[in-house]
Amino acid sequence: MEILPEILGRKSIRKFKSTPIKKEILNRIVDAGVRAPSAKNRQEWRFIVIQKEDLRKKIQDAAFGQEYVGQAPAIIAACTTNIDYRMPNGQLSYPVDLSIAMSFMMLQAVHEGMGTCCITTFDEQEIKELFTVPFSMRVVMLLLIGAPDEDPEQSARKPVKRVVSFDHW
Ligand SMILES: Cc1cc2nc3c(=O)[nH]c(=O)nc-3n(C[C@H](O)[C@H](O)[C@H](O)COP(=O)(O)O)c2cc1C
Repeated sequence: MEILPEILGRKSIRKFKSTPIKKEILNRIVDAGVRAPSAKNRQEWRFIVIQKEDLRKKIQDAAFGQEYVGQAPAIIAACTTNIDYRMPNGQLSYPVDLSIAMSFMMLQAVHEGMGTCCITTFDEQEIKELFTVPFSMRVVMLLLIGAPDEDPEQSARKPVKRVVSFDHW
């Protein structure tokens, strides 16, 4: 058994070609995300797919002007439709559920030859107003997707031995 090539090859991309993403590709990416597991299978999520240039520029403004944000031909905003549900361990489910769904989308995007970057550096209130997200709901993360226009070095990870233990902390 080998580690999936999409996992081995993925890295955050912050320079994208302007080529729009084919509809079938974007549909498969979103489809991969909604197949993710969620606590009690509640699927308390809504994914807003943004491709219109004027909206992407407004997202860029809400992301403190970071140019690569508006440059990505597609942006998926991961939003929750419930902010209260706690899992049996007492923790909120929405950040966990949405993160897993985003991971599925990210890996499908890599499989499709796309580059991705998770973005949390944004003014949530501005994004909420832009897309009329209900007052009490949250926009947890943005996923930039597009054909990569750079090939950065992969970033280092802590050695497995330092972060994994067996049968004790
Ligand atoms: C929860 C989360 C939030 C992130 N927020 C941002 C962000 O706001 N801007 C950005 O450029 N990258 C962001 N990243 C990307 C990380 O910086 C990147 O994943 C990390 O440095 C490891 O690099 P790699 O993705 O190339 O392996 C975020 C990643 C995660 C998982």
